[in-house]
Amino acid sequence: MKLVIGNQKAFMSSDDVYAFIGGMEGNCFDNVVICPSYPYIGMYSKLGIKVGAQDVSISDNGKATGEVTVNQLKSLGVSYCIVGHSERRSFFAEDDDLVNRKITKLLDNDMVPILCVGESFEDKENGRSVDVVLNEVCSAFNGVNFSSLNRIIVAYEPIWSISDGIRAGVTPSCDEIKGVISSIKNYVKDNYGVSIKVVYGGSVNLSNVDALNDIDILDGYLIGGASLKVDSFVELAKKCL
Ligand code: PGA
Repeated sequence: MKLVIGNQKAFMSSDDVYAFIGGMEGNCFDNVVICPSYPYIGMYSKLGIKVGAQDVSISDNGKATGEVTVNQLKSLGVSYCIVGHSERRSFFAEDDDLVNRKITKLLDNDMVPILCVGESFEDKENGRSVDVVLNEVCSAFNGVNFSSLNRIIVAYEPIWSISDGIRAGVTPSCDEIKGVISSIKNYVKDNYGVSIKVVYGGSVNLSNVDALNDIDILDGYLIGGASLKVDSFVELAKKCL
């Protein structure tokens, strides 16, 4: 079974979400986590599906207009949270330090962080994919309590491959994905003594998921565009059961 995490980003209207939830009824498989925009979290929680947030505040303070705290997420039954997505790193200036603080906040509160890491196309062309990704993992894990590290899911998302990337629709080859994933797993095992789950994200859809499912060390997917239409999303999730 592979994990299927839907990252619905900021795409859907509330009507879209009602339609999506209608299609999910009876299809809330164990391997699925949906990460909707904040306003829709309560709607998904009621469905009895695993729910994740797309971001979290580093503040616990109520005096934080516009932020959503970890306690608020927990009160809605959210147990997963994406951190350091490339869109947040590039459009909202999230740096490694902020990513590290969010990871720490989530782990201290028994949540499951989904840490996004990934190289630019230029880095890939220069053979730097593994270096870039391991640097991001290393910064994100800085100072984190080792005993909680096994809860982290790392999402390997090459920036160029996600749907707004410069090679949208193209994924690395299965061998390339396998190489990066095993580097992450080995690095974490060697340096922190824990085994973690690593998922792949970037243009995953119904047409390429069968081939990707053959990557034995891959634990699942972070899915953007293909998590917006319920019928195809359910079909994709079934292929990963
Ligand atoms: P995509 O997005 O599946 O649309 O490429 C993945 C992501 O950005 O998490």
